[in-house]
Amino acid sequence: MKDEQVHVPIKSAADIVAARQKGRALAQELGFNRLDLTLIATAISEVARNIVNHAEEGEIVVALANQGGTRGIMVVARDKGPGIKDVAKAMQYGYSTNKGLGVGLPGAKWLMDEFDIKSKMGNGTTITMKKWLH
Ligand SMILES: Nc1ncnc2c1ncn2[C@@H]1O[C@H](COP(=O)(O)OP(=O)(O)OP(=O)(O)O)[C@@H](O)[C@H]1O
Ligand SMILES: [Mg+2]
Repeated sequence: MKDEQVHVPIKSAADIVAARQKGRALAQELGFNRLDLTLIATAISEVARNIVNHAEEGEIVVALANQGGTRGIMVVARDKGPGIKDVAKAMQYGYSTNKGLGVGLPGAKWLMDEFDIKSKMGNGTTITMKKWLH
């Protein structure tokens, strides 16, 4: 398998679609089943949409992940936006600062196997998510 890594700049709705498609394509190449492809694409959409809605612009990186011979997909969403004041709150279902449903972040975490979020006020947000092939 190629050592692939795809960067998608995110600032518009069209970029969200592009990130979703690039992630799905890599996941398919890796051998994820159709259900997993949908789950991965949905998680990518949510973090990409958050960049557009809450940070204006940023990027999504999708890459091959490997841990002790287990392969998977890694998705990094990063921006230099305003950051999140209270990450624990933002991870709760129903918490939104702009009248959204507040399900994007907890939903993405639930859809993936690993989810890490680092955010600092004034310094942006970086989310790293992984899903493993079983
Ligand atoms: N990249 C980001 N930069 C700054 N704040 C963010 C970012 N992503 C999420 N947030 C904050 O975390 C909150 C929760 O995010 P989440 O995706 O769960 O809900 P939402 O985007 O408000 O609504 P929904 O995704 O359900 O439409 C957001 O309302 C926002 O305050
Ligand atoms: Mg959201």
